[in-house]
Amino acid sequence: VQKGEELYRGKAKTVFYTNDADKLILEFRNDTSAFDGEKIEQLDRKGEVNNKFNHFIMQQLEDAGVKTQVEALISDNESIVKKLDMIPIECVVRNYAAGSLCRRLGVEEGLELSPQTFEFFLKNDALHDPMVNETHAIAFGWATQDQIDQMKVLTFKVNSILAPLFRKGGMLLVDFKLEFGVDKNGDIVLGDEFTPDGCRLWDAETKKKLDKDRFRQGLGSVVESYIEVAERIGLSL
Ligand code: C5P
Repeated sequence: VQKGEELYRGKAKTVFYTNDADKLILEFRNDTSAFDGEKIEQLDRKGEVNNKFNHFIMQQLEDAGVKTQVEALISDNESIVKKLDMIPIECVVRNYAAGSLCRRLGVEEGLELSPQTFEFFLKNDALHDPMVNETHAIAFGWATQDQIDQMKVLTFKVNSILAPLFRKGGMLLVDFKLEFGVDKNGDIVLGDEFTPDGCRLWDAETKKKLDKDRFRQGLGSVVESYIEVAERIGLSL
């Protein structure tokens, strides 16, 4: 597969066309952003670490029966993925309270959630990714009822696969965000990425933060923590 023109440049990844109309190349950059792009820094090796982390997790999900976009790693910073029509909705499952949930509802960080909660957010930086419900998604044509139902089932399925995987490595999967797209057959497929940039992971004993909150909160050792997470789930980087 030959790399072609740039299709889209996001805050941390760039998407390229290829000579195969059904395939794209995802390039993971070292750019790290938070607060809708207000805070941006270059972190050495982050592109490589996230590319390999994402490939490893997507492989685990495929093995457990979740269809994903990822096809192959082609370099330290790039992977080949299936072209999808992305749905502009983020799906968030939470196992413990943190982040915007605590800010919005005034609940204490670390509270275990039963049942695990689910939220949709509209992908729109200018509007600061507002929370939306499924009737908004359908009324405004962002997704169909069937797609909404499938995204919700798949996000919980991913939680049931990954929470135990991280738990075996002595970590709590606090929450995470997924994005889905539609493939050429009309099927819903997991797209975007699963990396410590888009989830929260805490050491199960000490509750030390090992994810992008280290960057958001200026705690330091960001990429080092991502590498530690990878190693604790059996991926050596
Ligand atoms: O900020 P909030 O608490 O709603 O985030 C929930 C989860 O979704 C966190 O793991 C966060 O990293 C992730 N997220 C993301 N991209 C966004 C918003 C949230 O990856 N635009």
